[in-house]
Amino acid sequence: MRVGIIGGGLMGREAASCFGRWFALQNFSVRAELTAVCDLREDLLEWFGQVPTVQLRTRDHHELLTSENVDAVYVAVPHHLHEPLYCDVLAAGKDLLAEKPFGIDLAAARRIRDAANASGRFVRCSSEFPFAPGAQRAIDYVQSGALGRVLEIHSGFLHSSDLDPAKPANWKRHSKTCGEIGVMGDLGMHTVHIPFRLGWKPKRVFAQLQKGFPQRPDGQGGTTECDTWDNATLNCDVEIDGNDGQTIPMRLQQKRLAPGQTNSWHFEAIGTNGGVRYNTRDANTIHIYEKEKDGWTRIDLGHVMAFPVITGGIFEAGFPDLNLQMWAAFASERAGELDDRFGCATPDEAIASHELWQAALKSHAENSVVEL
Ligand SMILES: NC(=O)c1ccc[n+]([C@@H]2O[C@H](COP(=O)([O-])OP(=O)(O)OC[C@H]3O[C@@H](n4cnc5c(N)ncnc54)[C@H](O)[C@@H]3O)[C@@H](O)[C@H]2O)c1
Repeated sequence: MRVGIIGGGLMGREAASCFGRWFALQNFSVRAELTAVCDLREDLLEWFGQVPTVQLRTRDHHELLTSENVDAVYVAVPHHLHEPLYCDVLAAGKDLLAEKPFGIDLAAARRIRDAANASGRFVRCSSEFPFAPGAQRAIDYVQSGALGRVLEIHSGFLHSSDLDPAKPANWKRHSKTCGEIGVMGDLGMHTVHIPFRLGWKPKRVFAQLQKGFPQRPDGQGGTTECDTWDNATLNCDVEIDGNDGQTIPMRLQQKRLAPGQTNSWHFEAIGTNGGVRYNTRDANTIHIYEKEKDGWTRIDLGHVMAFPVITGGIFEAGFPDLNLQMWAAFASERAGELDDRFGCATPDEAIASHELWQAALKSHAENSVVEL
């Protein structure tokens, strides 16, 4: 799988580092290498000069897309550029790993999904946290039926980087470039990927949205207006078959103003027979509720991965490990070899997430519960 990257910023370089240690994947049938990079910034193109497999570095994404040495493209650019660039990738006949939120709004996401279907190319959307050992264990636990009747679901992603008012604004603080959905577009795919995959889709939502600081330094000696939602708590009702006809409260939290949190992704599901709790803040630990003991048991996880790696089983996993696993899932599913393992988020899941964010905006604006 020869990969091209469009957008070599924070996430583009993280992806490059995955291909740099692809050999850590054990007995993995797909070879992957980074062959081409596009960014508008010269300093970033220079950075990619140290990656020996990169044959093309360009400021023009059309040039990357005409390259015969690119099979699949990862696009990691600001949200207002998702639709034009994703559609260009598909029109060029390349497969796509898109970034979330998969278009700046619901309408853009639907057009991208339609273009993906029409192109017949393999398209997925980035979301790394389900590949954490604790998340995988939690998914297995839920799927085993150990919860009994599901009582409540919590999923969230919290950081605090907007608490510092002196931090210069970037494109993520402006609705024009981040999207009217703000933090939901920034962090939301991370909170809904597992619930959606488990079939837990909201039927109605009541959203509580909060903005951050209205002005920030612009990084060039001046100030700039910031208008995005920074915190979003979505209180949802979920209906699932076989739950004694009871709706389930599901709380989804996306926050950029969460004191003390740096990059804490959590998932928790509680039922009448069991419960499971995982938070990347304690990346090596999962908590399972055992009814017989009437208590929570803390379990150390180690490096148990869906796609085995050479890393010692006693070592703890971090974000770059999850990213490598996500890329392995993309490569594996693209090759038709995913089997029953957890796959990357699909275009339909991205659309469902946008439908929820749209309903959340309406809920907040009207101070009402919105049906989906
Ligand atoms: N999956 C995750 O965990 C995760 C984390 C952070 C960001 N993201 C997502 O990744 C995407 C990018 O975010 P980021 O934090 O890497 O942003 P970033 O600002 O660090 O990088 C974006 C890059 O795109 C480049 N760019 C802009 N226009 C371009 C164009 N026309 N052609 C080529 N390059 C262009 C910019 O120069 C910049 O280097 C967003 O969709 C964001 O939501 C995902």
